[in-house]
Amino acid sequence: MAQLKFRDKTYEVGDGATVLDVLLEHGQEVPNSCRAGVCQSCLMQVVEGEVPEQAQKGLKDSYRAKGLFLACSCQPQADLAVSLPDAAQLRVSAEVTGIRPLSEDVMELVLQTDAPFEYQAGQFVTLWRDERLGRSYSIASLPDDDNGLMFHIRKVARGEFSSWVHEDMKPGDRLSVQGPAGDCFYIPGQPDQDILLIGTGTGLAPLLGIVHDALRHGHRGRLQLIHGAQHPSGLYGHETLTALARDHDNLIYHPCVLNAEDEMDAGIRQDTVEGLVKALVPKPAGWKAYLCGDPDLVNKLRKQLFLAGCNMKDINADAFIPSTPADRIG
Ligand SMILES: Cc1cc2nc3c(=O)[nH]c(=O)nc-3n(C[C@H](O)[C@H](O)[C@H](O)COP(=O)(O)OP(=O)(O)OC[C@H]3O[C@@H](n4cnc5c(N)ncnc54)[C@H](O)[C@@H]3O)c2cc1C
Ligand code: FES
Repeated sequence: MAQLKFRDKTYEVGDGATVLDVLLEHGQEVPNSCRAGVCQSCLMQVVEGEVPEQAQKGLKDSYRAKGLFLACSCQPQADLAVSLPDAAQLRVSAEVTGIRPLSEDVMELVLQTDAPFEYQAGQFVTLWRDERLGRSYSIASLPDDDNGLMFHIRKVARGEFSSWVHEDMKPGDRLSVQGPAGDCFYIPGQPDQDILLIGTGTGLAPLLGIVHDALRHGHRGRLQLIHGAQHPSGLYGHETLTALARDHDNLIYHPCVLNAEDEMDAGIRQDTVEGLVKALVPKPAGWKAYLCGDPDLVNKLRKQLFLAGCNMKDINADAFIPSTPADRIG
């Protein structure tokens, strides 16, 4: 059985257990959120030994070179000594420069980083309130936007980070930013390819960045953007996107809701996102697709598009996987 060393203590690693499982089980405080190898909030560093390849999947080369790995995806096969990485090396401090509601449960947050921060529109970062609490959020702005990094944050009932943003945050507050990560971004080079962008709720945030990036690169293919919500009030980008689509012939915006209302705008359809995708693009072969937001819907759409003929390599997705509840940790 492999041994795991952390802070002068050695633990036995049970069959199939991850580094995160073992440390949490023994009461060690290791930041984490999705526990699915996506959000990167559980980054740790190898002190001695080697981690399996899976534990470094999706990490940038500079992280790999430093021996960083994801504790939630690391099932050690041999003895391993690990530490928490130096946060100062991974994160950049930032100040809240803007915060305003976009709808009753979505807040727009704007941050100005203390040092230049490189990213691609549509990627995500981990925002850290303090050493313990970090959550991932997709970037809605463009890299050369002087106004700073923009996020759309939905309020989750009893959610630690989102409640802080919605109830207490004010301009001048400080937090830190780690990343960026994720491969949901526009890749120039195929200006005539048709692109399908699908998101529900704040899944719109990365899609906005991608659409703006595609447009400024002069993309000529169709940009079919589907935004789904429970109610019309959840379509918080409706006015902006309607105006943007008016200015760009190849941008087609499709708002849809599950629950229609008498007074809602005539352009809004009552339909499921899956149903709308099937009706609009029954044969997605040759299309590129970006799927963002609810993890179940992202998985369902990935399968639906693949079975309808879309190449798996052309499907980029960011599933907004929530944190694991405390009673399921350990
Ligand atoms: C790659 C990535 C990108 C993301 N981008 C965004 C974004 O742009 N905007 C955004 O608003 N969020 C985004 N998220 C989700 C975000 O990281 C947090 O999970 C979310 O804000 C809740 O954090 P919290 O601390 O408020 O709630 P927590 O304290 O983490 O959660 C409180 C409780 O609610 C449960 N919970 C949390 N979220 C949900 C949910 N959606 N459905 C059901 N149960 C839930 C948790 O399991 C927990 O039991 C993204 C997630 C990932 C992995
Ligand atoms: S990547 Fe490990 S907790 Fe999210």
